[in-house]
Amino acid sequence: MNGRDLVRSMKVVGSVGAAQGLRTVRAAWRRRRVDAAGLPPRGAERARVPGPVQEVQPGPGGGVIRFSRSELCVTVAVNGAVFWGWDGATPEPSYALAGRCPEPDPRAVLEPDKEGGWRVVAERVTVVISRHGTVEVKTPGGVTLRRDLPPRWWEPIDGGAARWMQRSEVAADARFFGLGGRASGPRLKDGTYRLWNTDPGHAFGPGDDPLYITMPVQVVVADAATHLVFHDTSWDGTVTLREGEEGAGSGHDRAGTCEVRMDGGPLRCWVMVGTPARVLRAWAALTGAPALPPAWALGHHHARWGFGSEQEVRRIVSGYQERGLPLDAVHLDIDHFDEHQVFTVDQDAFPKLPQLAEDLRREGVRLVSIVDPAVKAAPGNAVYDSGTAEDAFVRDASGRPVRGVVWPGEAVFPDFTHARVRKWWAGLYEERFAQGFSGFWHDMNEPTSFAAFGEATLPRSARHSLEGRGGDHREAHNVYGLCMARAGYEGLLELAPQERPFVFSRSGWVGMQRYGGTWSGDVATGWPGLRASLSLVMGLGLCGVPYSGPDVGGFDGSPSPELYLRWFQLAAHLPLFRTHASLRAGRREPWEFGPEVLEHARVALVERRRLLPYFVTLAHLARRTGAPYVRPLWWSAPEDRTLRDCEDAFLLGDCLLVAPVLGPGADRRAVQLPRGRWYDTATGRAYEGPGQVLVDAPLSRVPVLARSGAVVPVRGDDGGLELDVWAPAPGRTGGGLVVPDAGDGEDEAEIERYVTRWEGRELVVELEGENGMIASPRPVRIRGLDEPSAQM
Ligand code: GLC
Repeated sequence: MNGRDLVRSMKVVGSVGAAQGLRTVRAAWRRRRVDAAGLPPRGAERARVPGPVQEVQPGPGGGVIRFSRSELCVTVAVNGAVFWGWDGATPEPSYALAGRCPEPDPRAVLEPDKEGGWRVVAERVTVVISRHGTVEVKTPGGVTLRRDLPPRWWEPIDGGAARWMQRSEVAADARFFGLGGRASGPRLKDGTYRLWNTDPGHAFGPGDDPLYITMPVQVVVADAATHLVFHDTSWDGTVTLREGEEGAGSGHDRAGTCEVRMDGGPLRCWVMVGTPARVLRAWAALTGAPALPPAWALGHHHARWGFGSEQEVRRIVSGYQERGLPLDAVHLDIDHFDEHQVFTVDQDAFPKLPQLAEDLRREGVRLVSIVDPAVKAAPGNAVYDSGTAEDAFVRDASGRPVRGVVWPGEAVFPDFTHARVRKWWAGLYEERFAQGFSGFWHDMNEPTSFAAFGEATLPRSARHSLEGRGGDHREAHNVYGLCMARAGYEGLLELAPQERPFVFSRSGWVGMQRYGGTWSGDVATGWPGLRASLSLVMGLGLCGVPYSGPDVGGFDGSPSPELYLRWFQLAAHLPLFRTHASLRAGRREPWEFGPEVLEHARVALVERRRLLPYFVTLAHLARRTGAPYVRPLWWSAPEDRTLRDCEDAFLLGDCLLVAPVLGPGADRRAVQLPRGRWYDTATGRAYEGPGQVLVDAPLSRVPVLARSGAVVPVRGDDGGLELDVWAPAPGRTGGGLVVPDAGDGEDEAEIERYVTRWEGRELVVELEGENGMIASPRPVRIRGLDEPSAQM
């Protein structure tokens, strides 16, 4: 234990109580001992590079290229996705992939290239392999998007996992995004980013990295094209990024670089090339369509650590109702458990939970339950007993169950990488349904185990099934939350097949969108935390996880009324709109910040409810196309370099541009517009992009601009679906997609396609029907026309 660890352990003791503090000291020692016995230190290593090419063997979509000290398998799939794997690595097994691998493209063939190299030419991409193992990905026009230099391995002489390093170059103008949820983005600045899911142990800000969800996924945006690269291994590692520099016409550009270093696992990767929309579509095809949230989960949620009683929950819900504030869900945190034990209820504080759930449901408010993976290690605890009988808990290298410390004290951890264990866990949600819960909030699943020093997770030597392959925590750690999400999701589907499962999870990995979404975790209260929360949502969306949002107001402390309001206004435009705070934090109800904030928060809540059909449409489109609801401004204009650097605004679907206020004292703000005409939705004023404009941002609202020609489905006063149509510029057309949805169930709703066009001075809004266009059957409100009569 060094000095820093000592201070940390004292802090832990201070914040969790003396008995728990001592447990965390014991647990930290135990973790260290278990690893000392189970994980011998790395001995001498031998370095290796592929060496020169020896022979090639063409195959479907590409082939195998043998070098003197390694071999490379390259395949281009029918959708243009490129896979390559070194040392015999194939796409499977993988926790990231959704099912079967995409079929190889039969037209893509391996053929000789100049200087003894080889290439695979496909319709959308060309892959060139040099005789020493450099792999280049090029556009069909021949522009290089990335150049991966020959990798290097370090192999322990007495066996075990090889470390490896892969250095790549990208265009000088390229910008990096992704790597999971990063607080300092969304654009990833020069630096080293670790790939190890981590609970920072305190409320975090933009300087904290890594956080709960890390992914070896980069989205690289450059003039020539956008590409996504995924290094498919779940081991601990780092990615070091350095943006390039252009030589201002001197011809001396410096390429951007990326260096991936992994402690183990296969060296294999996927690359997708094209427009951002095409790339994300291919990504969703590979790693799975995002789960569809039930419509209520797209409304407003109120959570709190420490409601403490049923009366308090009822008081909060009445508080919303009496003030006419829409509310769709209330979340119960660990304080509703009996002594923090998962799948139990504190009967003194919540004696009639099913009744409470039923009463709330009648009022249109759902109950969501927190679910932590750690199970109190105490005989008599039903989950512990049944898990022990099931042999469900993670063991150490000598076969003893691994013990850690979480909220309930000494705890054990289900091994979610085992299908049998997932099935057992899935059955436990029955108890939650009986209590009346409709949705589930998975927490502490990095997994976190409190430790006074060292890493606050399981020992690296802890054993995991890994679907029967067997392995240890070094490989299983990053997929722990993903596998827990799968267990929960599949359990809910089985227990309530008529309902869409609602699961969102603090930790996860590539593919977690198949089982639900996530939230920001414990973001620090303060303006930097507000910025960080937007960064997380955008970064995760680009990695294929579209449903997320922050703790409105921040997790700790007490936000100023202004900060709270600005956070509220931002989150009202994010997929998960949830107020939450820590046990000792200040209040977060909209009425606790004075009458002015209350009025403005009401406007945000009412507008969110009005936009619900748009959010539902975006959820369906995310499921069908992989496009996130929240998109960076460069989404539809990646060639606009100014937009790549613009981190303080976002596109909400195709129609809206949201420019949140991320600092104090603003009453207007600069907005960088993509090309086209944009209307300020509050004033109707039109702006022409591309370029920067100054728009009003009074305390009462954040600027939201609508793209001209957009068709936005909204909820009318009678609850029916109506269309806000933003006039196309003269001579232009517009249109949009609407997915009307019953709100629950797995039935695929039909997409409605609308077109708007000018007929003389009249704007026509039509729906595409089986036999051609028909006048819109839904009520239409034309907006953005200068004629005063047309303005609403
Ligand atoms: C973790 C979660 C937080 C929750 C708390 C208590 O800190 O991130 O949201 O309130 O645990 O369960």
